[in-house]
Order: sequence, then C-alpha cells, then structure tokens
Amino acid sequence: MAGAVDLRRADTGVPAPVVAALDPHAIRADFPILSTRTSSGHPLVYLDSAATSQKPRVVIDAVDDFYRTYNANVHRGIYEIGERATAAYEAARASVARFIGAPDPHEIVFTRNATEAINLVAYSWGRRNVGRGDAIVLTEMEHHANLVPWQILVQDVDGDLEFIPITDDGILRLDVFEVLLRLRPKLVAFTHVSNTLGTIDPVREMVDMAHAAGALVLVDGAQAVPHLKVDVAELGADFYVFSGHKVLGPMGSGALWARRELLEAMPPFLAGGEMIREVHLRRSEYNEIPWKFEAGTPDAAAAVGLGAAAEYLMAIGMDRVRAHERDLTAYALDRLATVPGIALYGPAAELRSGVVPFNLAGVHPHDVAQVLDRSGVCVRAGHHCTMPLHERLGLAATARASFNVYSTREDVDALVDALGEVVRIFGA
Ligand SMILES: Cc1ncc(COP(=O)(O)O)c(C=O)c1O
Repeated sequence: MAGAVDLRRADTGVPAPVVAALDPHAIRADFPILSTRTSSGHPLVYLDSAATSQKPRVVIDAVDDFYRTYNANVHRGIYEIGERATAAYEAARASVARFIGAPDPHEIVFTRNATEAINLVAYSWGRRNVGRGDAIVLTEMEHHANLVPWQILVQDVDGDLEFIPITDDGILRLDVFEVLLRLRPKLVAFTHVSNTLGTIDPVREMVDMAHAAGALVLVDGAQAVPHLKVDVAELGADFYVFSGHKVLGPMGSGALWARRELLEAMPPFLAGGEMIREVHLRRSEYNEIPWKFEAGTPDAAAAVGLGAAAEYLMAIGMDRVRAHERDLTAYALDRLATVPGIALYGPAAELRSGVVPFNLAGVHPHDVAQVLDRSGVCVRAGHHCTMPLHERLGLAATARASFNVYSTREDVDALVDALGEVVRIFGA
C-alpha cells in the first residue's frame, strides 16, 4: 500500500509503536486532497478539521470498492454480493467497537452523525425516562447538537435544563456541578471535547459524580474520537456518540454506543423495515439490538468507510495522534501569540485538543477567514454552533483553526504568515 500507514499491522496483531512520534508529512501522503492547490494556485492549508476531517485513500477506496464491486442492500440479498455487503457492514461495526473500546459490537448503533445519535437518545430514552419536573444537566460549552434536542425534550415533558458554567478559560466548574447534582437529575449530557475552545473535559470524574447522584450520562464524543484514545468501558458513561466524518470517515456515518441493557429497554426511534422481526397489521415485534435502531436502508458504504477509518487510526495509534496534536497545538498557541492584536481563547495546550479559536482586534472573523482563503488557508469563522458559549464569553463570533493527524507546523506557519497579511490590509 502506498502511503504512511501499514494496515497489515492490524491484521497480524503486532501493535503499532505507541511511543514513536508520528510523522505528519508521511501521513499526508495518504490524503489525496492535501496535495491539491486552490484555484488561486496556493497549496491547500486545511485548518478546519473540527468541521470535518479530510479522508485518507483507504477510506475513499473502501467506499469506491463498495459501489464498484459489491453494491447491494444489507441484511436482505441471499446472493454473493448481498452477503458481501452485509459482512462488510457488520465488520465495520466490529472495527468501530474495537476503536472506542466497546465490549460488544451489538452495542454500536450506526447513525448518520452525532446529531442523529443524540436525537435518538433524546426521543427514545428521554421520552420514557424524563418526566415533569425532572432535570437534565448540560454545560455552557455544548454544541447545539447536544443542546437543542434536550430543549425540545424538556419542553415536551415539562422538565428542566440546568447548565454547568465555565471559567473564563473555558474549564467546567465542577464545584457548581456538584451543587446541581443535588437536584437529582435524570441525565447529565456533556461534550468530551469542546468544538470551540478545545477543552478536554474530565469525563471519568464527571461520570462518577453523576452516577453517585443517580443520573445517567451521555457523552458527546464528536471532537474527542478523532483526537484521543477513547475507551467507553473505561470512561464509564452510559451513552457515547460521535460522527464518522470528523474522524477521517465518510459523511453520513456516525455511531451511538450505549450499554446493552439500556438499548434493549429503549423503544425504537425510527420505525419501518430492518428494525422489525415480525410485522402484523396491528402490531409488530422489533428486531434485536442494534438493528432495532437502524430502520430503513442504511448508508452501508459510509459505514464501511468508517470501519476503514477506524482501522487506519488504530494502525497509527491514538496515543501518537494525541501526542502529535498536543505538540502542534502548543506550537500554534506560541506562534499565534506573536500576531499583533490577536486574542486567543481557551485553556492551555495540555488541557485542550487541537482547536484554537481567536480574534484579531477590529476585524470581523468572516473578513479574517476570507483574506486567509486568498492564501489557501481554510479556517472556520462564526459561532461554530455554540452560540450560548460565545454569549458567555461576550463574543459575537470567532475564527477557529483546528487540526488533525495530518496537520503540520508548516500549516501553522502558513496561517501565521497569512494573518500578517490580514493585519496589513485591515491595519489591525
Ligand atoms: C462537539 C460536537 N458535537 C456534535 C456535533 C455535531 O456533529 P454532526 O453535525 O456531524 O452531527 C459537532 C459538529 O461540529 C461537534 O463539534
């Protein structure tokens, strides 16, 4: 295989080295888009991985191979390519389970993304278990995907939402969390890693606190699974969700993990084909988990691509991914601090993932992003689907640079150089 990662390691059971630093330049060879140029002739400097990651060749090939050589509906065709499609879909589920430390692949429900996974829990588990006057505890740093579904739930059942506040550096106030737990909430739902500030939240500690107060815990892992070694068994949460497209996988792939007994007790979310065992005119018997929650034809090719992404990252080793991104984030914070008029937000590098939000004095972040684009530098500008967090920080919007396994110091240098151009143009 061309490129940096030898997938055969995963097959032979020989673990990839954990301590050796990864070489992002070699990794980049696996990502075709990273050797392209923008229409202005600049090399692509992709610093928007928190919005979606780029895809390695193994993922592109897996999707391509699905459609070219064995495209068929899963769990239906009793013919060769149908059985091959089903086997690949279920093998992808097993890869995802291993990737996040899930003890049983049946506890992995494929969804379109993290948003759908959270909605599944809010509709299915939430409407059975949250009632009038019951509290759900969230945090001030949630992505809208882990806020709006709970707003709708408590409006429907006449429940209540409470929020763990943050410090000015974007760290959760666990002292206040302790007080909120006295309300005996039914659920605590929070992000593992903030998509805006990069803060890595202390999941295990918070899970233990929540469980001691009798609450279940949902962790939004959309920004954690791509960057940290996630082991759901060790974290101890009850529900864990993530999106495939942020973790080198295809768009339209994602997963919900939950403990078997929770999934078995939950009613279906969407209903129709695939999620049933027997259907009569007036009643139906539902399928076993996870298929009970996978109504209709799934995006099987995307799931297969997600499985390939999980295998790719396991072959690299998530400890190495984290070490690389921590170093790169520290480098970026140092380099960006030299830009005149810049304000940087969020915690220190060791407490954050590869996300760096910033503003330039007197320049709207949209203008910053537009001028950076002229140099081929892609950053996100806006509220990043965290309007309440921006409100808490007194900010209308921010620009955000975010990294992934293929990001390099040269990317950061290109950003800093291009910001120099912004300063020159706007006189910031
Ligand atoms: C922390 C977090 N949660 C949830 C989501 C929603 O992800 P998706 O749009 O893939 O469902 C995002 C996307 O940016 C995110 O960053």
